[in-house]
Amino acid sequence: MVKICCIGAGYVGGPTMAVIALNCPSIEVAVVDISVSRISAWNGDQLPIYEPGLDEVVKQCRGKNLFFSTDVEKHVSEADIIFVSVNTPTKTQGLGAGKAADLTYWESAARMIADVSKSNKIVVEKSTVPVKTAEAIERILRHNSKGIKYQILSNPEFLAEGTAIQDLFNPDRVLIGGRETPEGLKAIQALKDVYAHWVPEDRIITTNLWSAELSKLAANAFLAQRISSVNAMSALCEATGADVSQVSHAVGKDSRIGPKFLNASVGFGGSCFQKDILNLVYVCECNGLLEVATYWKQVIKVNDYQKNRFVNRIVSSMFNTVSGKKIAILGFAFKKDTGDTRETPAIDVCKGLLSDKARLSIYDPQVTEDQIQRDLTMNKFDWDHPIHLQPASPTSVKQVTVVWDAYAATKDAHALCVLTEWDEFKTLDYRRIFDNMQKPAFVFDGRNIMNVEMLREIGFIVYSIGKPL
Ligand code: NAD
Ligand code: UGA
Repeated sequence: MVKICCIGAGYVGGPTMAVIALNCPSIEVAVVDISVSRISAWNGDQLPIYEPGLDEVVKQCRGKNLFFSTDVEKHVSEADIIFVSVNTPTKTQGLGAGKAADLTYWESAARMIADVSKSNKIVVEKSTVPVKTAEAIERILRHNSKGIKYQILSNPEFLAEGTAIQDLFNPDRVLIGGRETPEGLKAIQALKDVYAHWVPEDRIITTNLWSAELSKLAANAFLAQRISSVNAMSALCEATGADVSQVSHAVGKDSRIGPKFLNASVGFGGSCFQKDILNLVYVCECNGLLEVATYWKQVIKVNDYQKNRFVNRIVSSMFNTVSGKKIAILGFAFKKDTGDTRETPAIDVCKGLLSDKARLSIYDPQVTEDQIQRDLTMNKFDWDHPIHLQPASPTSVKQVTVVWDAYAATKDAHALCVLTEWDEFKTLDYRRIFDNMQKPAFVFDGRNIMNVEMLREIGFIVYSIGKPL
């Protein structure tokens, strides 16, 4: 029986391994992590992450061929294939701070593999890493090898949160990069055989190591660039009377451009787009490619501009002050169908409003008060470092209340802001909400999900992204 071990039981490691276990009953899969609380949650009824369809998959194979454990060394030493899916956050200190990927967690996993291995291993980079990381990992493993042979593969993950299970079951492609030597090709084939249990052969792409590593950064940069492009257009739409939804539709009809990922928004969030572009920028700078670095940096600058623009619009349309005014925030997660708040645009919007002394009442169906308070008191980039795993700090933002209902959030509010596109926000009783709000009652739709005509008929003053007033 082939044995797989995955180091890192996070948003990627957990769902990916569960789907491998379900599709490959002949493979034993162990997911290990240093976080005791995460592993106990994976073994309990309340999984540590909210992801549609994940519960069913885990329940079907947990205890059969899928195991979650903190006994990292045992499972690593027994495995034939080791996936490394640890966090690779942006460095907060030292050389490359604010840009470069912090590979501390990756390096410590690699050193541990070298320490405990007693047989040959295939080590798979699942985490998103800078190009050439495999070379560094190879050196760490070879210099500590005690005669054991390692093959390093790059197998970046392309799942998106909220749709992870469907993305894993039906991926656009699986990418495997490896050394172009007989041993490297054999390792690539071994990993291909795992995915071939459910992924059609023509969707499994094999490349050299550096192409695979770079393709992941490139894919995220291209995706984020589309959003910044449409968001930049949204500013021009607001200035000219064009409607960004109509522009996106017209542009996306060109089959060379395509209709997906062209929704204007308050800005993109999530744990990876910003981090991976910064990482790409840093790699470009290190290679002396300053124009290329500047080009990609602009994607992040436009995203920051979009979040600022949203806050400025709220303040300026509410008579240039939100001081002491209650503002309801509907949605805090970085997108719908996840409880993840990493780099959510809601953090910057809320901090912007708080700095103008607004009082915020926040509701998100999947995010706890503890998490929101932690996010609003944490420094940029700290969230993905070990501090993230600690309980919330005792300091909390007093101007913020977190409620478990959109009606409570909006009661007596001067304005409501939609920051996450949760479906339930489309079907609220807006007449009831309007009746319970201060007048004039403002709506700022950061996701363009509201029925603007209906809201205006009720009496709301509505601002959408990139749409005429
Ligand atoms: P995560 O923070 O949810 O999970 C990482 C886990 O690794 C944590 O539970 C942490 O405790 C554990 N860990 C860290 N060091 C360890 C060690 N030495 N031994 C054992 N466990 C250790 O992160 P994630 O969102 O799953 O992302 C993991 C990687 O995948 C990142 O590089 C990310 O860029 C990439 N990625 C993420 C997504 C996504 O949607 N979240 C998608 C594609 C790729
Ligand atoms: C993204 C990529 O889509 C995945 O392919 C990749 O694997 C992953 O990053 C990663 O490397 O972590 P994710 O961040 O989970 O996935 O979610 P997306 O659906 O890409 O959304 C990212 C952000 O962009 C969200 O805040 C979303 O609301 C925003 N977005 C998305 C828009 O503002 N407009 C759009 O048209 C699409």
